[in-house]
Amino acid sequence: MKVGVIGSGAMGSGIAQVAAQAGCEVVLHDAKTEALQKSKSALAATFPKLVEKGKMSAEDAVAVESRISFSESLTSLSECNLVIEAIIEDLEVKKKVFAEVENVVSADCILATNTSSLSVTAIASSCKKPERVVGIHFFNPAPLMPLVEIIPALQTRTGLVEEVKNQIASWGKVPVIARDTPGFIVNRVARPFYGEALRIYEEGFADFSTIDEAMRSIGFRMGPFELMDLIGNDVNYAVTESVFKSFYYDPRYKPFITQKKMVEAAWLGKKTGRGYYDYSDGAAKPQPSSDEQLKENISWRILAMLINEAHDALYLNIASRDDLELAMTKGVNYPKGLIAWGEEIGLKKCVETMDRLYENYREDRYRCSPLLRKLTA
Ligand code: NAI
Repeated sequence: MKVGVIGSGAMGSGIAQVAAQAGCEVVLHDAKTEALQKSKSALAATFPKLVEKGKMSAEDAVAVESRISFSESLTSLSECNLVIEAIIEDLEVKKKVFAEVENVVSADCILATNTSSLSVTAIASSCKKPERVVGIHFFNPAPLMPLVEIIPALQTRTGLVEEVKNQIASWGKVPVIARDTPGFIVNRVARPFYGEALRIYEEGFADFSTIDEAMRSIGFRMGPFELMDLIGNDVNYAVTESVFKSFYYDPRYKPFITQKKMVEAAWLGKKTGRGYYDYSDGAAKPQPSSDEQLKENISWRILAMLINEAHDALYLNIASRDDLELAMTKGVNYPKGLIAWGEEIGLKKCVETMDRLYENYREDRYRCSPLLRKLTA
């Protein structure tokens, strides 16, 4: 299998590493020389570290590295059986690149996009043979995160998804199949983790550190605010806005002013040294509230919204139950699948909480999923 990767940024470099470690010949292409050089030296530094950590033998490291070639020319992808695009998140630019790459590769080469937020169907429409196009969405960092969402476009030929799924599984990843809808699985179902936390903060119930601690106390590795600081508030805000617009302004996905202010202030999180938290040397660490009841109320409200969202995704056939559970545990490290978590707590309690929130606020944001209601009828 010869794999082409277009775009040698954070994702493209990671995907190239994954494919090469799985034994594929990889051609990594980028339009910018500096980007290719940066990727080449980053990868060259990665393999000795893996050897040091005992994750790979020294011979394997040499072999893996030699399987990756770097090229500024798109024509170097001509021999590839699978090309994965990981360039800038811009529909027009991606469409142009897909139209170009189709003229370079063979008729049966599979063309995939790593887009997180654009329509795979719209990208496929730029090709003469859109039936060969599919979404293959890795998570960051690609070598470490096991989940990969596979997204058929409306035009994708029957059988291609299974073929790609098997290929990705053979690379040691956990593939799940998602419908081509905004945010696919993870970026849709995870919205309330950030959104409801922001809402609780804006209502003045608690500060960032208390909300974060509340979520950690029920098994999440990180709280919403520390996670947004890690992802980057610009990135998280852009995803929220894009999902909101793509859902025709469904209030359930509405972004929050608090997020926008962070972006306006260029408090983008860890990468700028300031976000919801101050990362400068000697900065005082905020103390979470010691009110256990408050933290319990916060974590349950956010979790109930997540369980509701996961049931709604199942109701709308975004993915199978198994894939939904895998996506949240393997893509964003949730301690449990949200459907199973809901069953464990009791679906009746979830419905009661959603109804109580709706009763309090009279906002569509808090509508209970028809599936939750049906399952408890
Ligand atoms: P990045 O900005 O690190 O890298 C993009 C690379 O593409 C740059 O090196 C740039 O020079 C190159 N490029 C831009 N236009 C090009 C063109 N026309 N031809 C060839 N190369 C071109 O971006 P990143 O973060 O790696 O994201 C890439 C894609 O992966 C985007 O679609 C993004 O939405 C998606 N993605 C990003 C994740 C993340 O957490 N960063 C997670 C999952 C998906």
